[in-house]
Amino acid sequence: MKKLVGIVGWRGIVGSVLVKRMCEENDFDKINPIFLSTSQFGKKYFFLNKYYLIENAYNIDILMSLDIIITCQGSDYTNEIFFKLVSCNWKGYWIDASSNLRMNNNSIIVLDPINKKFIKESIENGIKVFVGGNCTVSLMLMALGGLFKENLIDWISVSTYQAASGSGAKSVLELLSQMNYLTKYIKKDIKNNFSILDIMHKFIFLTKKKNFPKKNFTVSLAGNVIPWIDQEMSNGQSKEEWKMKSETNKILNIKDNNICIDGICVRISSLRSHSQSFTIRLKKDISISSIKEIIKNQNQWVKIVSNDYNSSKIKLTPISVSETLNIPIGRIRKLNIGKKYLSAFTVGDQLLWGASEPLRRVLNFLI
Ligand SMILES: NC(=O)c1ccc[n+]([C@@H]2O[C@H](COP(=O)([O-])OP(=O)(O)OC[C@H]3O[C@@H](n4cnc5c(N)ncnc54)[C@H](OP(=O)(O)O)[C@@H]3O)[C@@H](O)[C@H]2O)c1
Repeated sequence: MKKLVGIVGWRGIVGSVLVKRMCEENDFDKINPIFLSTSQFGKKYFFLNKYYLIENAYNIDILMSLDIIITCQGSDYTNEIFFKLVSCNWKGYWIDASSNLRMNNNSIIVLDPINKKFIKESIENGIKVFVGGNCTVSLMLMALGGLFKENLIDWISVSTYQAASGSGAKSVLELLSQMNYLTKYIKKDIKNNFSILDIMHKFIFLTKKKNFPKKNFTVSLAGNVIPWIDQEMSNGQSKEEWKMKSETNKILNIKDNNICIDGICVRISSLRSHSQSFTIRLKKDISISSIKEIIKNQNQWVKIVSNDYNSSKIKLTPISVSETLNIPIGRIRKLNIGKKYLSAFTVGDQLLWGASEPLRRVLNFLI
């Protein structure tokens, strides 16, 4: 019998990509889906030639009847609902895009091109909670998985360049509104060939106006970067930065937490796909050609980009990779600091490998 699978958060940006991918891969043929929402329940949803009644995502009786719940709703929802279900002795599987349960002892962070064996063993051992990893961590592992597998990494220092969609549908809409606001006032000045300094001055002035749209970011993301993502930790890291080491070690099932990764996470004004720049200290001096061979053989999605200007601007950008599962990695070269120091730059669609794709793949393992 087909499993009854509740899908929560399907209206959001990760959930929409998840549903799209599930359609592309015919996953809906294998399940009986129930669509739930925290705001749209009672309405009808026309999907794959059929009307579905949208159920209330807070209704515990409905949730208790489900074999599997896959949620892209967010941490508040998980906090409120997951523990209620556990206390009611719910026996189903919980698959989650949000971060709350990632570091729980009874959960597995899923990224099957990297930890498939561990996921399968965990299913056999009765684990019921499967959580997608942090977007940049998953994308970093997809890109550098080969070097981790060969135990070549001593440490990594990362700088991220994270797209607006990383913080949800509302943030994308806000960035577009900011762009719209700015172009509305500057369009004529460009046409009339105003002084470039005056145009730039006006741009900055406009971002500071009271009615400038900035409810989510609180500042302009358009024409700007924000060098902080997520909560402040007591040691000066942001929570996004803290996740780099803790989640990587958990995904790789390294018990003594000894792979050291740290860096600075930055929000930029690209719409979709996160980029990352790495400084890697290798455990030994190894040739660039061997490094490329090791990287490209780890999984079928990672693609080596030649270290030149044209290839980098065409193949190694958010726009080139968005809406694909490809993980290009380029700018690979030894740094002048020393023979064990490697640079690399990667980009990946954080809504796919960084969020929805590992979830739909673990759903397939379960069904
Ligand atoms: N975005 C990423 O790149 C990313 C990557 C990895 C993990 N995650 C995690 O995944 C979870 C979901 O993130 P998300 O980015 O998908 O959040 P989101 O776009 O904000 O969607 C979350 C929920 O917000 C509601 N919503 C309110 N206004 C909306 C609108 N205008 N359009 C669509 N939905 C709207 C919907 O719930 P109702 O139907 O109930 O109203 C939706 O399911 C979070 O825990 C996040 O941390 C996100």
